[in-house]
Amino acid sequence: MSQKLAGSRIDVLINNAGIYTDDNSNGFGRLDYQAWTHSLVVNTEAPIKMAEAFLPQIKTSDKGLIVNISSLMGSILHRSSKAALNAAMKSLAIELKNQSVGVLTFHPGWVKTDMGGPNALIDAEQSVAGMRTLIENFSLDQSGSFVKYDGTPMPW
Ligand SMILES: NC(=O)c1ccc[n+]([C@@H]2O[C@H](COP(=O)([O-])OP(=O)(O)OC[C@H]3O[C@@H](n4cnc5c(N)ncnc54)[C@H](OP(=O)(O)O)[C@@H]3O)[C@@H](O)[C@H]2O)c1
Repeated sequence: MSQKLAGSRIDVLINNAGIYTDDNSNGFGRLDYQAWTHSLVVNTEAPIKMAEAFLPQIKTSDKGLIVNISSLMGSILHRSSKAALNAAMKSLAIELKNQSVGVLTFHPGWVKTDMGGPNALIDAEQSVAGMRTLIENFSLDQSGSFVKYDGTPMPW
């Protein structure tokens, strides 16, 4: 795909895809290590791979921003894969700052989606509207930060 888009400009790359493989049947004592590995591949490695693949297109933009939809939520598998994502993206932010490429990582809130379920606290419109505003107002000095969809800093 990156080769197909060679010569294109990407202003904002959004790494949104994610999986939630924890469930009551595979908690501590019955951990599913295959599911955990799958979580790490999709939730941690894939966003880094996307950034690596599309960096040439991102660098041609004045905006040049990599956005990650991470999480504070979940049990061992999900939370650990997202914590690893946060750490990897923090490192990437440091590495890319002198190339004027920013990295911004979000906790989207508990959102009513297939993953979040019907009891979640907010709908997708509210979560996305908040993140869009923060993306629009992003400046490079914020690179490497992990924030909630409404801009609240997330300690982790
Ligand atoms: N909803 C929440 O409360 C919540 C809270 C914290 C964080 N998040 C994060 O928000 C992001 C979006 O989640 P969501 O709530 O919208 O979940 P969702 O309803 O389950 O949607 C997940 C999306 O990820 C895609 N995806 C999963 N595995 C993929 C793969 N291997 N390759 C390509 N695409 C893949 C799915 O595509 P297909 O439909 O084609 O499978 C789907 O579009 C995720 O990173 C999630 O961890 C969500």
